[in-house]
Amino acid sequence: MWRRCIHSSRGALHENPLGLPSRPPPPTIPRRTTGPPEKRAIANVGKLLAVASGKGGVGKSTVAVNLACALARQKLSVGILDLDVFGPSLPTLLGLRDAPEPVLTPQGALVPLANHGLACMSMGFLVPGSAPVVWRGLMVQKAVQQLLFDVAWPRLDVLLVDLPPGTGDVALSLGQLAKVDGAVVVSTPQDVALLDVQKGVSAFRKLSIPILGLVLNMAHFTCPSCATPHRIFGPPHLPEDVDLLAELPVLPRVSVDGDAGVPPALTDPAVQIVMDPLAREVWRLLNER
Ligand SMILES: Nc1ncnc2c1ncn2[C@@H]1O[C@H](COP(=O)(O)OP(=O)(O)OP(=O)(O)O)[C@@H](O)[C@H]1O
Ligand SMILES: [Mg+2]
Repeated sequence: MWRRCIHSSRGALHENPLGLPSRPPPPTIPRRTTGPPEKRAIANVGKLLAVASGKGGVGKSTVAVNLACALARQKLSVGILDLDVFGPSLPTLLGLRDAPEPVLTPQGALVPLANHGLACMSMGFLVPGSAPVVWRGLMVQKAVQQLLFDVAWPRLDVLLVDLPPGTGDVALSLGQLAKVDGAVVVSTPQDVALLDVQKGVSAFRKLSIPILGLVLNMAHFTCPSCATPHRIFGPPHLPEDVDLLAELPVLPRVSVDGDAGVPPALTDPAVQIVMDPLAREVWRLLNER
């Protein structure tokens, strides 16, 4: 009896020798079990095509708008979404700088504007022309989300997305939130631009966005007096694992007509000869997957 008593009190001492109140269990940090957000389709949009670049100023918006017009010339219904929230170009390139602000549907969705047969939406339609957008990452993500999913697009065969340069918040949000059917990458022929193509392509592949190929912009310049194309930036060192889809030369009308809000793919045979086959190939590739 005495032995049994010693035995049991030893056990109790060992478990809590100072008799302290038992410690509550440590707080558990809620763990995300769902993984990244699920990619969503955009209502009324058949194919979603991103137009991207590694470097800025290489002609992404110009190619996006003219490719959109060339796709529309193939009798497709086409929309274009300007996701360059900090430097939107679509209002200028589509001649909509003085357009009234988009109206809202009763459900609160933005009604796209339209010109040259394209439905279009841009941050530039929502903020006054000279006002800068000064936002941090989360606000950019929210804006991208709204521009992607809160626009009442008409039924579209294809929606082109004009991205800001590089692989920042906007490209990341697009790739994480929406099901993108393909990306066209735009670059000029200089090494500094082409080297960044590789980075952009790797980022898109990580986001499971199929790379349709590269448009080499300002590939050459044909001197009016000698009719010879000159590679004014030297020979391009093209990435090996990206198909070259088209070469667009330096053409003064691309710039002048772009600034005037009339995409030259609608009017200029020198642009159409490049953009029309590009549009047919892009549409074929989009439907191949
Ligand atoms: N093939 C071309 N021939 C002549 N000018 C061109 C050509 N392509 C683009 N440009 C001109 O180059 C300038 C930059 O083009 P654009 O704005 O399309 O580039 P971007 O890559 O969209 O720039 P950002 O990175 O700022 O969005 C514009 O003035 C445009 O008119
Ligand atoms: Mg641009």
